[in-house]
Parts: sequence; C-alpha cells; structure tokens
Amino acid sequence: MEIQSSFSLKDYNSFGIDQTAEAFVSVHSEAELKEALTLKDYPKKFILGGGSNLLLTRPLEGLCIHINTKGIQVIEEDEETVIVEAMAGENWHNFVQWSIERGYGGMENLSLIPGNVGTASIQNIGAYGVELKDVFISCSAIALNDLHEKEFNLEAAAFGYRNSVFKTTARGKYVITRLRVRLTKTKHQLNIAYGAIKEALGKLPPNPKNIGAAVIAIRQSKLPNPKEIGNSGSFFKNPVIAKKHYCQLQEKHPTIPSYPVNSEQVKVPAGWLIDTLGFKGYRKGDAGVHKHQALVLVNYGEAKGEELLALANEIQQKVKEAFDISLETEVNII
Ligand code: EPU
Repeated sequence: MEIQSSFSLKDYNSFGIDQTAEAFVSVHSEAELKEALTLKDYPKKFILGGGSNLLLTRPLEGLCIHINTKGIQVIEEDEETVIVEAMAGENWHNFVQWSIERGYGGMENLSLIPGNVGTASIQNIGAYGVELKDVFISCSAIALNDLHEKEFNLEAAAFGYRNSVFKTTARGKYVITRLRVRLTKTKHQLNIAYGAIKEALGKLPPNPKNIGAAVIAIRQSKLPNPKEIGNSGSFFKNPVIAKKHYCQLQEKHPTIPSYPVNSEQVKVPAGWLIDTLGFKGYRKGDAGVHKHQALVLVNYGEAKGEELLALANEIQQKVKEAFDISLETEVNII
C-alpha cells in the first residue's frame, strides 16, 4: 500500500477537475481497505469510487482512499437465474458487459453508466426504465467507525429515485465493498418501453445483447464521453412537483413533459426546464451546459470546480425564478 502526498485527483474524477488530496492511497483488497481506514496519521478519510458523481471545489483534507478492488463471480445459480457478486472497485459498465457476454439479463438498460460497482448502490443508478434496485439482492459494507461488516438487503438499502440509505441515515458511515445482483438466464424481463430503445433496436430481436447495444448507441449520441469532455452525467435530479403546480406551468408551457409519480405528484425533466431557459450549449470559460442534453454540465478543459458550481447555481436560480422549482443536485459537491 503506497501513500502519496499532495496527489492530483484530475484522473480520478470524471469532471477532470485538478484538485489535490492531502494524501492518497489505492486499496486492492478489503484487508488493505481496513488497514487504510485505521491509519492514525489522517483522522479525516475520504472514500473515492469511480469519481463519476463528484464535483471537487476545494482540496481534500486527510487521506483519500481509492477503492480499487476487482472481481466478478457467479455465487449461486439455478435453471433460470444467477446471483452475481462484484467487488466495489469494478467499473460499472465492465460489470454490465461481463453479464451481457454471458447471456445474463437484467442490467442491459444500465449500460455505459459511468462509475463503479460500489457507488451504484448509493445512487440507485437508473436509466431507460430500469434502476439498480430491480436486480439488487444485497451489498456488503464496512463501517467507518469500528470496521464491522454489515450486509444491506433490498429493504435495508431503502432505495428511491437516485436515493438510498447511503444518502440518508447511513450517509458517510459505511464503505460498500461488494454488490450482489440477481440476473436472468432465460425468460428475461426486457424493458423496451423507451421510444429511443425501440427505434435503435430497429428490426433486431429484443434480447439483453441487442438492448445493451441500443442503450450504448443512444447514450453515445446524447451524452458526452467523460474521457473526451469532463462531465458527471445528469447534474441535477428530475424534480418531483405537485400536480397543481404542474397544471399551472402547463398553462404557460403547454409542451412541458411529465412522468407519473403518484396521485398528487409528477416528475418533470430538469433537462427540459434548463433547455427551455436557453441554457443548452451555454458556456462560461471552460464550464458549460452540454449541447445535446441540458441536464449535463461539462468541463471543456480547465474549468475549476468553483466555476461549475457557479454555473449550477445560476441555473438553479433561473429555474426557480421561471418555474418556481428548486433543482436538487444529483452530483456530490465537495
Ligand atoms: N429534454 C429536453 N432538453 C434537454 C434534455 C431533455 O427537452 O436538453 C427533455 C426530453 O425531450 C425528454 C425529457 O426531457 O422529453 C427527458 O429527457 P431524457 O429522456 O434524455 O432523460 P432525462 O430525464 O434527462 C434521465 C436520467 C438519466 C438517464 C435518462 C434515460 C435523471 C436525473 N437522469 O435523464 O440518467 O440516462 O433519464 O433514462 O434521472 C444520470 O443520472 O447521470 C443519467 C444520465
């Protein structure tokens, strides 16, 4: 285990922000993780996964522990399903590809989501009608205070829209080390409700492999590749508002889209609100709003975390003034 001081995190966050960690260590096993967590020289610890949901606006104090544990294996199997376990440091998309290559269904709609397996549960990542919770069996975690190991099943994980117990009552208390999902070998429950998926599939038969390829094509056409333009996927969550409020907005904006939530509320696409205010393609220095998807903020090169944050605040303020909606960030701002 090598500890490096004053370490640049530029290659460790998908926004490509050049901030430093006072100290940095990459851990390759749970034993190394526990060792790093007990290092007395650094009372402050920061757990870093894929860095794909992170906006760094200041240097990190203390020890940044990069979770770099690898491994994917089938741990249970019957005629129709498999339970697969993946280590937290596995790249999410590699995990999805690994499953698709073996003919396992369930995660194909979640292809190409940036980030790692460990952080997928924190966010309950989702796309094209599927969320992690739909395949989730459990995840293992280590408590930061006394290093005890705990397993969170579906109920304990308390998943919601881009939400989980790891963002609420267990926030900052655990490091997720392993994830287990149940996938199908036959009788796949395919989700092709999204028009864009149907369109991308064309005449191809819907199966996990083809749907995965369709999702990859859609994402590549709409979302910037973080390796080329720094970004963190959707910067804001889609807000949930009262139906009454929605009806008032509809009078002024007849085309405002919505998704059903419950009898009293609807979800409105934040991308539409931001786009309607003319922000798509907006740029201030190297901080900008993506030209194809207004929900994605981008770093064209040398933007500072503070500049992206200022842009996010400007968008939040304008959306509040125009629609009386407070946008919440999906990205973790440090
Ligand atoms: N829209 C616009 N202008 C824009 C962007 C979107 O008018 O610039 C409109 C679209 O026309 C559409 C609606 O907003 O009517 C929704 O757009 P889209 O289908 O692109 O999805 P989204 O709500 O913007 C969500 C997730 C994405 C996920 C997609 C597909 C959130 C915060 N984002 O985006 O997740 O890939 O659905 O399922 O829920 C992520 O979380 O990082 C992410 C990329």
